[in-house]
Amino acid sequence: MNRSKMIPIILSVIIIILAGAVVLLLIFMKNQPVETRGVPALIEIAAMEPDSEQWGVNFPNQYSTLLLTESNNARTAYGGSEPVQKLEVDPRLVTLFAGYGFSKDYKEDRGHMNALTDVRGTARVNETTPGTCYSCKSSSNPMLWAEMGMAEYDKTLFSELGARIEEPIGCANCHEAETMRLIVTNPALEEALKAQGKDWTSFTRQEMRSVVCANCHVEYYFKGEGKYLTFPWAGGTSIEAIEAYYDNYEFTDWTHPDSGTQMVKMQHPDYELFTAGSTHFNAGVACADCHMPYTRDGSVKFSSHDVHSPLLNPATACGACHTDVGYVTSQVTIIQDKVAATMYAAEDAIIDAIAAIQSADANSRSDGALIEEARALHRSAQLRWDFIAAENSMGFHNPEEALRILASATDLARQAQLKAVQALP
Ligand code: HEC
Ligand code: HEC
Ligand code: HEC
Ligand code: HEC
Repeated sequence: MNRSKMIPIILSVIIIILAGAVVLLLIFMKNQPVETRGVPALIEIAAMEPDSEQWGVNFPNQYSTLLLTESNNARTAYGGSEPVQKLEVDPRLVTLFAGYGFSKDYKEDRGHMNALTDVRGTARVNETTPGTCYSCKSSSNPMLWAEMGMAEYDKTLFSELGARIEEPIGCANCHEAETMRLIVTNPALEEALKAQGKDWTSFTRQEMRSVVCANCHVEYYFKGEGKYLTFPWAGGTSIEAIEAYYDNYEFTDWTHPDSGTQMVKMQHPDYELFTAGSTHFNAGVACADCHMPYTRDGSVKFSSHDVHSPLLNPATACGACHTDVGYVTSQVTIIQDKVAATMYAAEDAIIDAIAAIQSADANSRSDGALIEEARALHRSAQLRWDFIAAENSMGFHNPEEALRILASATDLARQAQLKAVQALP
């Protein structure tokens, strides 16, 4: 082959190699945390430093937006940050949670910086409350867990542990100081993932942008005498798997005084509902995409740490992916109204079941076996309804799954009512 023919070939090869190198460089740059690109750290942050202000010296934008969560008090149709009393908005809850703390005080959640004040202020806390209740409320935790071990932490009474808990939710709940990567800080999450054969250290960055929220926004219970914080995930995170887990364990939070049913209270399963095959989860969208969208301050781009309802800033929260923000937010209203109506229908059905079981039980000639069956159906119905009621998005995180679960709750409640009526002589 002569030289003039070789030149284009050699040139092509060089161009392909150069193009490849540029692509690799871009991929490498894209995978670097934004702040570490050429910005030297100002101070060294101790591992698990509880005080977010210290971290704020190096990362002022993240810190100043985190501080906004304290005072952001806007309300939305079904969410927002005003601590409204849910028992006044929906008095059916008083009957559904009769005999349990949630029938006395049940407020709408608000921003991360209020977590510590709010847990200390709730009427649900008393002298027997375990320290476990602090697990999701403070950046003092990672250091305390490292020092005391989680078992010891959980065994300590809320009133005693309080002296060692100084900070609300902060940087140390989500980041590793040395690298600033997102990490699992709650030992209960690490153990729950392990029970499913998962190792979070192998998760992608996009997965971590949701998993970091699962440190707290999940269903959990206090296991055994030591009140050991546990997520009921060993058989999976669907409502059916969680119910089977609790039934197998014969776990109950309290006995309903009217129906005599052994109940389980569900706690904010935001992560479980979202990851149960929602459209957004399946499309690879993470919690942080909607709740911590990228924001600009001059030339600096950073994740807003002012975590709140995305309906307060839909242009940034949804606009990164959706061109028609007005349309998608109107869809939220449609979805939430539909889920709320279905949810209230489930509540009415459960309340009817409670009344039917109560009156069957009051009749001494009733069939006790049928009453027991009715109670089992009541337990099943209520933990399904509560899975959606305690979840924070009024179904938006996964509309199909929310409606499926509520339909099954209503069906089980009507079956419970029927059994109770059959139990009458
Ligand atoms: C596609 C966007 C999107 C994703 C992804 C998403 N959310 Fe939401 N989230 C919403 C919307 C919309 C609401 C409803 C807000 C309202 O009613 O005001 C909401 C509500 C909430 C609320 C209650 C907010 C309030 O105002 O009380 C919490 C808590 C929450 N989400 C946590 C999470 C967690 C944790 C994840 C991931 C497991 C997640 N979200 C994923 C859009 C999203
Ligand atoms: C260390 C535990 C913890 C972690 C981690 C955590 N949250 Fe929260 N979050 C809470 C608690 C507790 C509250 C309620 C605080 C209150 O009402 O005082 C809350 C409240 C919220 C709210 C409601 C805010 C409002 O203004 O109504 C949203 C939305 C939210 N979290 C989303 C997220 C997302 C998204 C992630 C992950 C990026 C996350 N959270 C990680 C514990 C946590
Ligand atoms: C509730 C969990 C949570 C808390 C608390 C939190 N962060 Fe973040 N942070 C995130 C998430 C999620 C991201 C996005 C990470 C990604 O995209 O890989 C992030 C990203 C960052 C980044 C990378 C640049 C950026 O903005 O995307 C820095 C730096 C950072 N956070 C600093 C802080 C500091 C400092 C604090 C305390 C003042 C803090 N974070 C508190 C969850 C949290
Ligand atoms: C990171 C990208 C991303 C963000 C942020 C995002 N979405 Fe989406 N959204 C998607 C994708 C991808 C789909 C699926 C599109 C499809 O399959 O046609 C989707 C679908 C939807 C749908 C149709 C759901 C369905 O079941 O068909 C609605 C409604 C929606 N999004 C609302 C919102 C709202 C409201 C927000 C802000 C709170 C938001 N999205 C934020 C990526 C995003």
